[in-house]
Amino acid sequence: MAIRNIRIMGDPVLSKECKKVTQMTERIQILIGDMLDTMYDAQGVGLAAPQVGILKSICVVDITDDKSGQYVLINPEIIEADGSQTGEEGCLSLPGKQGTVTRPQHVVVKALNEKMEEVTIEADDLLARAFCHEIDHLHGHMYVEKVEGELKDTERAQEDEE
Ligand code: NI
Repeated sequence: MAIRNIRIMGDPVLSKECKKVTQMTERIQILIGDMLDTMYDAQGVGLAAPQVGILKSICVVDITDDKSGQYVLINPEIIEADGSQTGEEGCLSLPGKQGTVTRPQHVVVKALNEKMEEVTIEADDLLARAFCHEIDHLHGHMYVEKVEGELKDTERAQEDEE
């Protein structure tokens, strides 16, 4: 496993639609392992494949600080969304910045896991926010498109980022 280079906003790969994964391969297994390593190394709570330059519909999320809540989502889709929450969001592809974004309070995500089995995951609060943020990346969208008001500088640039 290895740490990959995180692409920064302005890189064209971050504004493209990802391709769905149709079969698990050794290359994709390595990619997923590297994405997890890269996310934890950068102290992020999520990372999408385009952020490491790969246009495949894969993202990883872990909002815990002890690696106990790891999700690997392949071809994820939000199939239900309810309520709303407004809060601060950041992104590893835009270090040192954060902004206020409104997201659903609750989502149901359908995806494939690493064994290519269909899974359905319910999420609330920060986990719902993280899933929405990462799934947006898979469709070429950055959170800055949804920011209410100004983007702000964060002093804790390496923390709380997705
Ligand atoms: Ni992001």
